[in-house]
Amino acid sequence: MTPVSGPAVVFENVSKAFGPKQVLRNISFAIPAGEALCILGRSGTGKSVTLKLLMSLIKPDQGKIWVDHDEITHMDETQISKVRRKMGFLFQDAALFDSLTLYENLALPLHRLTTKSQVEIDGLVERVLGQVGLQADKQKMPASLSGGMRKRAGLARALVLEPKILLADEPSSGLDRITAAEIDELLVLQKTEYKTTVIVVTHDVHGARRVGDRFAVFDKGDLIAFGTAAEVEQSEHETARKLISEY
Ligand SMILES: Nc1ncnc2c1ncn2[C@@H]1O[C@H](COP(=O)(O)OP(=O)(O)OP(=O)(O)O)[C@@H](O)[C@H]1O
Ligand SMILES: [Mg+2]
Repeated sequence: MTPVSGPAVVFENVSKAFGPKQVLRNISFAIPAGEALCILGRSGTGKSVTLKLLMSLIKPDQGKIWVDHDEITHMDETQISKVRRKMGFLFQDAALFDSLTLYENLALPLHRLTTKSQVEIDGLVERVLGQVGLQADKQKMPASLSGGMRKRAGLARALVLEPKILLADEPSSGLDRITAAEIDELLVLQKTEYKTTVIVVTHDVHGARRVGDRFAVFDKGDLIAFGTAAEVEQSEHETARKLISEY
């Protein structure tokens, strides 16, 4: 029997304001499990807030959010932490502990959050470091890593807990095009090889088109387009058409 996987993430009529500022207005979309969604939009349109809502770092004012079939908006912290374990988050600044080596940065969450043995932890850390091409750098301190290496280290940190869903906020920002393309490649590999659902916020349309199966375009708190690249290219909204087009 083929397992029914269904959507990995669902937003249903989600709204969020900060004070008088309406940041998201009645947002609804669903991401099929195992697909990659790229979130596009100009600065300040609610893209990072959308990822934070998914991680339940902030709560919506209205609407519901499902992560892997669980509705999360009314969960308490204990329930939320279980759902969070299914998600890896690549923060924009990589979020590494500066006083720990790269190896220790990856092993720490495994010691804290899993019952894996030292041998299993070593194996997993080695595998993920190999995946992102940093095996030779494992004894380095974060301060000695280049920008591109930091992004890859942040990605490794997000992947080491073997998430079902990977969230990445501007994973290739500030990188040259070749290094950015390498990061995109890793995201695609994670999806195809490990069936991870991937959600990426990006300003890089070239990268987005390499990675995304579907695209969500935000504009001033509204979701103005959602669909494949071809569908967004046909959007009635000029902003959506501009953001998806490579020029
Ligand atoms: N914790 C917060 N308190 C108050 N306002 C917030 C908070 N988080 C976000 N905002 C506001 O919500 C709006 C959307 O922010 P968000 O970070 O989602 O933008 P973004 O689309 O990710 O932009 P960028 O592309 O610049 O990263 C902004 O106006 C921001 O100032
Ligand atoms: Mg942002």
